[in-house]
Amino acid sequence: MPHGSTEIVTPARRVSGLVRPPGDKSISHRYALLAALAGGTSRFTWFAPGADARATLACLRALGVEVRTLPGGPDDGPTVELQGLGLRGLNPPPTALDAANSGTTMRLLTGVLAAHSMRVVITGDASLRRRPMRRVIEPLTRMGASIESADGRPPLTITGGRLTGLEHTLPVPSAQVKGAILLAGLQSEGRTTVRVPGPTRDHTERALRAFGARIDVAGSTVALEGRQPLQAVSARVAGDVSSAAFLAVAAAVLPGSALTLADVGLNPTRTAIFDVLRRAGARIDVLVEREEAGEPVGRVHVRHETLRPLVIVPSEVPDLIDELPALAAIAAHGGEVTITGAAELRVKESDRITALVAGLRALGVEAEELPDGFHARARHPIAGGTADAAGDHRLAMTFAIAALGAAGPCVITGAESVDVSYPGFFQILRSLSA
Ligand code: S3P
Repeated sequence: MPHGSTEIVTPARRVSGLVRPPGDKSISHRYALLAALAGGTSRFTWFAPGADARATLACLRALGVEVRTLPGGPDDGPTVELQGLGLRGLNPPPTALDAANSGTTMRLLTGVLAAHSMRVVITGDASLRRRPMRRVIEPLTRMGASIESADGRPPLTITGGRLTGLEHTLPVPSAQVKGAILLAGLQSEGRTTVRVPGPTRDHTERALRAFGARIDVAGSTVALEGRQPLQAVSARVAGDVSSAAFLAVAAAVLPGSALTLADVGLNPTRTAIFDVLRRAGARIDVLVEREEAGEPVGRVHVRHETLRPLVIVPSEVPDLIDELPALAAIAAHGGEVTITGAAELRVKESDRITALVAGLRALGVEAEELPDGFHARARHPIAGGTADAAGDHRLAMTFAIAALGAAGPCVITGAESVDVSYPGFFQILRSLSA
């Protein structure tokens, strides 16, 4: 990844055309990890192309999994083949594992490794080493693993072993923590039950079923029996709705836009963004076309209509957690956005409240931090300026969408961070707004 690259974004009147967003990052991590624990060869097309998913594959290679990556063509995209080693079949890595910038890699893999009788160190970049890990350490320790950390933060030293199932209620709604416990529970003795205090994406549950596991879901409680063998899967990964969200916001705010997002994942735990964009005044048509390994996939049309002030209340936050930065960009186009109940944003790839408000202000938006959210509004067009992504992929894309509504060209520093989830984002944005 180039370091410290800068992008210049010029104002645009509309975004139009058809895009297939990159393969879903959340789904790709889960497919790769489950394929490693399955028997046989799994094959995934349209696999997430970004650095986060690459970090998961690199960790699995270091754990002895044979992983083949093929660039793929325009239709099948990045393709990955993995030879499964079976439950508890991973091998000791030669050195510490590097999860790079990826919280999902670190938390899910910790769940997988907790059930392996070996000692493994897992670390990451400076941003990941600041992120809270007690939420996985505590339940996995109760299952029987030993996990040392630096005050609840990475690096983690995991000494796994034979685990026993657990009944656990999560303190915060987190799909990563739910997933980590389910991946450990799958390899444990007895039954594991996880209760989640709010909505969270259910990709782990759907992927487990696709790999042949039985899993019981009742409301926000998920349970499975341990030691269920998995069978290899071949699937096409759905397009990442969280990546598509940036382009959808651009089409929602720019008059004259008509954007089609094709082959996008339409899992109902991820599509709240489209309901919210409707509320903010966009015209959105969603069409589910098929299922891929239990995940609904289809197309979404987005058009600008009128902009209305947008208020996101705390109960809506978990379903929109990755899209909240993108929604903030609406303010830069003469809108008004208020979000509360989102203190989790402070422990993402950056402090997404402080860094978001700083970047929006630098572009000429009136933005203020709240302890658990932010308020942003602007008169159109904003003056523009230079915004720093603070090493955070979602902020780089947010500032790019905000910049489309400026009086002149804007500069985004730290723009290389988009490689984490959406390599090529700036070129695609330019081609849609040309
Ligand atoms: C993810 C869950 C969310 C999300 C992250 C990906 C996942 O995190 O913000 O980008 O793949 O499970 P939390 O589990 O911390 O809410």
